[in-house]
Amino acid sequence: MKRACCYMPPVILLLCITLTACDWMPGKPVKPEVDRGNPESVHDFSALWKTNCQGCHGASGRWGPARPLNDPLYQALVTDDWLRSTIANGVEGTLMPPHAQQNGGWMTDQQIDVIVTGMRSRWRTSPPAYAAASPAIIDFKSGSGDLHRGQQTFNTYCSSCHGHDGVGGSAGSPIDGSFLALASDQMLRATIVCGRPDLGMPDWQGNLNGVRIPEQSGLAPLTDGQIDDLMAWLTSHRQEFPGQPYPSTGNNQPGYRSSGSKD
Ligand code: HEC
Ligand code: HEC
Repeated sequence: MKRACCYMPPVILLLCITLTACDWMPGKPVKPEVDRGNPESVHDFSALWKTNCQGCHGASGRWGPARPLNDPLYQALVTDDWLRSTIANGVEGTLMPPHAQQNGGWMTDQQIDVIVTGMRSRWRTSPPAYAAASPAIIDFKSGSGDLHRGQQTFNTYCSSCHGHDGVGGSAGSPIDGSFLALASDQMLRATIVCGRPDLGMPDWQGNLNGVRIPEQSGLAPLTDGQIDDLMAWLTSHRQEFPGQPYPSTGNNQPGYRSSGSKD
């Protein structure tokens, strides 16, 4: 005698297969995280971050080519309005694009608010106590720095990693013309004050992720005046035609003309 549980009429079997097949068949498309048909409908921080910011500021806000935004010290020193307007307008002359629709971007004001609120709730957590005494990185009075003093300050505070006179060491050269062409003064100042905690550069106190690093031991925290001097020296290396001089021999790339060519 057949056991009841093993007997199933073919029609019911077919029905079962048809109803369940789509949920497990390989290759079934999954629901996209972002509705590309209507990008304005996305109001989820992670999806907006991934699509608009992650490529440059890194997944989880760090380890991107541009500044980490998950840094509690940085988050303590900027305001919501500053973040909102930077995101909406971008930073002219750099790779930071304007995101607001009215500036040619993709994001609505509401989406920009989602990004700002999301960053604040995730990354504005427990800033170091000394953040209150930090030199400002926005709304600061830019003093007239002295580039000779700036060079000395650089060689005292920065050369252990960036090389004597900034030629590069374990870290790259911050006076490289091509680098300076991509960086605003604002970015340089924010870097001096907050460091690059994701890549190993200490903040203005000589701390890296809350711990004083040996290279900075015995050095007092940088003052506003010293930062002005450093800025004067760093920016004195900006070039009119960054990237030059081009190699004059051995380059047969299409479009290349040696500096000696007549036409
Ligand atoms: C194509 C690369 C790129 C993308 C995409 C991008 N950024 Fe940026 N961002 C940069 C660069 C480069 C800078 C530094 C610009 C400068 O030199 O001042 C920057 C600067 C910033 C700053 C100011 C940092 C400072 O100096 O105080 C904020 C805030 C910021 N970005 C947020 C965002 C957010 C949020 C998104 C996504 C909505 C985003 N960025 C997308 C490249 C990018
Ligand atoms: C303990 C090592 C260390 C010290 C000290 C240090 N830096 Fe850096 N710095 C780094 C590292 C690491 C990076 C990122 C990787 C690179 O540029 O090679 C960096 C990056 C930078 C950048 C580029 C930031 C970016 O987002 O691309 C600038 C500008 C800079 N440093 C300036 C300075 C100045 C000015 C000082 C001194 C006040 C200084 N650094 C001190 C390690 C250091």
